[in-house]
Amino acid sequence: MNFESLEDIANHIVSEGKGILAADESTPTITKRFDTIDTESTEENRRDYRELLFRAVGMKNNIGGVILFDETLRQEAKDGTMLSDIIYAQGALPGIKVDKGIKPLDSSPDENLTQGLDGLDERCAEYFSLGAKFTKWRAVIKQDGSFPSDDCLKANMEALAEYAKIVQNNNMVPIVEPEVLMDGSHSIEDCYSATSRALEMLFNSLTDHEVNIKGTILKPNMVTSGSTASEQANISLVAEKTVKCLQNSLPDDLPAVTFLSGGQSDIDSTAHLDKMNKISSNPWKLSFSYGRALQQAALKAWSGNVENETAAQEAFSHRAKMNKLAALGEWESSLEN
Ligand code: G3H
Repeated sequence: MNFESLEDIANHIVSEGKGILAADESTPTITKRFDTIDTESTEENRRDYRELLFRAVGMKNNIGGVILFDETLRQEAKDGTMLSDIIYAQGALPGIKVDKGIKPLDSSPDENLTQGLDGLDERCAEYFSLGAKFTKWRAVIKQDGSFPSDDCLKANMEALAEYAKIVQNNNMVPIVEPEVLMDGSHSIEDCYSATSRALEMLFNSLTDHEVNIKGTILKPNMVTSGSTASEQANISLVAEKTVKCLQNSLPDDLPAVTFLSGGQSDIDSTAHLDKMNKISSNPWKLSFSYGRALQQAALKAWSGNVENETAAQEAFSHRAKMNKLAALGEWESSLEN
């Protein structure tokens, strides 16, 4: 597939309601996921699991991009085809996670700063030569009492902007992911305020670093109640607050917002996205870049057993289709039966 510009790549990824499959779990994270299905996290098992997802019928028409971990971008399928070529053959683009995880922030050690700017330019040049068309960097923002601090937000949003500029210089589209975590007992208003602060600082930093917004994708959290809050906001309130928060902070020339699922259930992630698209019309597309919410049913159905591959592919294809419908505002809960 040939693209004239970064804008074309970004628009391809979210064309016709398509979204992103986040399959970029680091080895320790995928190992934790495999532990839940009593499956050993060998290189072969990781390959087999990801290969079955990428070959699923539901990739076509529903998924425009797949975020990979370094190992997967270099990996071959059982028949020797590069996994990235299977993704291309499904009409989607391979992307790559380029951050190097988090470390405590010097000025506020209970908060974190995402690492990975050292050597990023060289890594990006190699990933581009391996066929990657876009990248991802995740900032992790805690919410709890005095958090997030201004220092934490400033340092992380500055790093996201530096990352985005380096990626664009290497002809790939940066996904900027400022994830305000759901963990905690905070209210939806607290989440609204933390997310607004993060987004405002992010777009100021992107402008300061002369990042091309038309060739950038935003991957934010939705505005929700904390996961352990006694009162949980309903679907409509989450959709309203999230859209309002985005409308106050995002420039019109941003092509797309692709949400993370962040620990929401499969159905909540779909219902929230659908509701937002039903109640609002925006200059940017609202779609998905889900990890757990696209994969957990498939992972369970697979359970590390080759005989379950078809059932796992069906589970994944179903969620991919439901989320595409949600990105178009055409999902109904009755379609889940
Ligand atoms: O960076 C986070 C992942 O790409 C998205 O994962 O949907 O499970 O939160 P999640």
